[in-house]
Parts: sequence; structure tokens; C-alpha cells
Amino acid sequence: MSEQALLKPVKLGRYALPNRVAMSPLTRNRAANPELAPTALHATYYTQRAGAGLIISEASQISPQGVGYPNTPGIYSDAQVAGWRRVTESVHAAGGHMFCQLWHVGRISLPDFHGGEPPVAPSAINPETTLYAPDFSQKPTVTPRALGTEEIKGIVDDYAHAARCALEAGFDGVEVHAANGYLLNQFLIDTSNQRSDAYGGSIENRARIVFEVVDAVAAIWGADRVGIRLSPSGLFNIGAGSDNRAQFDYVVDRLNDYALAYLHLMEPFAPVDDIPNMIPRVAEHYRPRYRGTLMINNGFDQAKGNAVIENGHADLVAYGRLFISNPDLPARFAAGAPLTEPDQATFYVGGEKGYIDYPTYETA
Ligand SMILES: Cc1cc2nc3c(=O)[nH]c(=O)nc-3n(C[C@H](O)[C@H](O)[C@H](O)COP(=O)(O)O)c2cc1C
Repeated sequence: MSEQALLKPVKLGRYALPNRVAMSPLTRNRAANPELAPTALHATYYTQRAGAGLIISEASQISPQGVGYPNTPGIYSDAQVAGWRRVTESVHAAGGHMFCQLWHVGRISLPDFHGGEPPVAPSAINPETTLYAPDFSQKPTVTPRALGTEEIKGIVDDYAHAARCALEAGFDGVEVHAANGYLLNQFLIDTSNQRSDAYGGSIENRARIVFEVVDAVAAIWGADRVGIRLSPSGLFNIGAGSDNRAQFDYVVDRLNDYALAYLHLMEPFAPVDDIPNMIPRVAEHYRPRYRGTLMINNGFDQAKGNAVIENGHADLVAYGRLFISNPDLPARFAAGAPLTEPDQATFYVGGEKGYIDYPTYETA
């Protein structure tokens, strides 16, 4: 069993990781304090999962403007840095590596989080969905306010500030969240970006902010400690763009110019074969184009994870839901041990239940 591809060491930027089983970023809404700072509970949760080759933190907002859900932690204030420092020290003591996922939700938010003002976005287009309000009730989204050109520089500066905070908090690197319909993804896709300035229109213009953010963050960390997450065929929080494939081909081609720690790609949540300009098999499409370390995610089990590495379509596999319910996932893979199913009811509710009480295989 130790010959499994998932359990072989791998180089990621400047790090030598013991295995290829990454923990996918997972929002868990447990920062239930006015500072939106990680707590001792977070340290316990992440330390339980330190056997991952790499832990990617839950999405952490880069500024108050970047928030869109209740009790998600930030990475911009002193209290948040102190909270995260406790987490990273504990994860490191257990032998783990941990990157911080930098997040701005853009229009996937409610006025309730912004003093009654609408959230911001590339264009004033309502995503037409419902979201959790601060009291965890569901509310419909509103039409966001389109960002002024001069405001975009301020957002890039917020990413740089958050990247500096992540460094101070003792993370091993940062992952730029450009997936799942949040702000950077909103800029990339023409259903949410109808701007007529330098940040809209052409494929190059729609990608401009993504590369400004990558440049800003890499200037602080070095490109070899920066990853980026993309969902080229994603339909979560966002409509299919008219030129998705060409848009993401352009982004991935340009990412080759950076020696990033990794590119983290998501397969579609549901088949997209019938949607024009989408990419049904993301890893297969991008492996030949991307020259760096490639991490793949979405719907993988142990067998599929080993297969995608063996057939050369990816270097690492990120596991989300299975890491929620199996804190010792790589050890279970090594032992061929049975897996615990995650309880969806406790994904986002807060508290210890369904968070730090999943047993390891040995204690089960
Ligand atoms: C509870 C939950 C929270 C999530 N939070 C995030 C997040 O903060 N950032 C992100 O990029 N993806 C997030 N995702 C998506 C996961 O990282 C992952 O892409 C998804 O669960 C599919 O992988 P899986 O099939 O291994 O679970 C979340 C998914 C779940 C189920």
C-alpha cells in the first residue's frame, strides 16, 4: 500500500511535502467573535489534520469589504494575526505545512455585512442567489455596486496587506482564491464583468486584476510560496461565460511565466459537456499546458486520486469533504482503512460538533 501515488513525497515550491494528499480550503464559520479571529478551536481542528501533505486554510477575507458569510475569519487585523499564529505554530509542531487562502467575495455578500450598503463587484449585476445573513437566515442577494477603476488599486493593496499579515501569522504560503464565483472569478467571466475600462472587455483586461494580485502577493512571499485556485468550468455563484475556455487558457498560459508553488484547479461540480466553451475534464486539458506543480480537486476518492497522479494529470489532489470527517485521511489511505462520511448538517453551524470530534481511525 505504501506504493500508492498519493503517498509519495512531492516538491511544492521551496517545500518538500511527505505526501500528495492536500486538505482543500473549507469554510466552517467557527470564528464566532467580534474580531472574526481564529480561536483555540481552529488550532485543534487544523492540528488534527496536520498529516495532510499541505493544509490550505479556509477562505479568509482580506478586508472587511471582502466578507460574505457569518463568522468567517479574516487575515487583516492584529487579533486575526494572533489567532492564526496560534494555529500555524500548532500545525508546525505537529509536522504540517499550511497555506492561507486569501478571499474577497465581491458580490457574493449581503448589505447586512456592510452597514446596509450593497457589496462591491466588477459590474452592477445581481448574482440572483440566496446567502446566509449574519443570523444564519437565508436572504436573497442584491444588485452590487460596480467598483470604480481607482478603487481596484485599493483592493490589490488589501491583498498585499493580507499577504503581509499571513507572513506575520506564520503560514508557509498563501493561495489566491480566484475560484467559485468570488471577486477575482467575477472579473474573469463576462456574465459578471461588463466593464468598459482596463479591467473589462477583452480576455486580457478581465484577467488584469488577477495578475496584479499575484504580482503583489508574490512580491511579499516569493512566487514559490504562492498558489492560485481557479475553477475554469465552475458554475457555483456564477454563470457560464461566453468564452470560458479561452479565458482560462489565457490565464493558465500566463501563469507559466511565474514559478508559483502550485496551480490549484477544480473539476466541474456537475457535467458541463453540453455547455459551449466549458472544459469537461479540467486536469486533462490543463496538464499539458501548465509547466508547474498542479493540484486537482473535486469529487476525488482514494482510487481516483491515485489514478489521476499515476496517469500524470496532476501532482497533488486536494480533498475537501473527506478531510472534514477523516482528520487522519493520509493515514487511512495508507492503511486502507474505512472512511467516515461527513455530516453536512454541521458544516457551517459553528461549535465543536462536526468540527473537532471526528475520530481518527486508531481511536474509532
Ligand atoms: C463545507 C465546505 C466549505 C468550503 N469552503 C471553501 C473555501 O473556503 N474555499 C474554497 O476555495 N473552496 C471551498 N469549498 C470547496 C472545497 O474546497 C472543495 O472544492 C469541494 O468540497 C470539492 O472537493 P471534495 O469533493 O473533495 O469535497 C468548500 C466546500 C465545502 C463542502
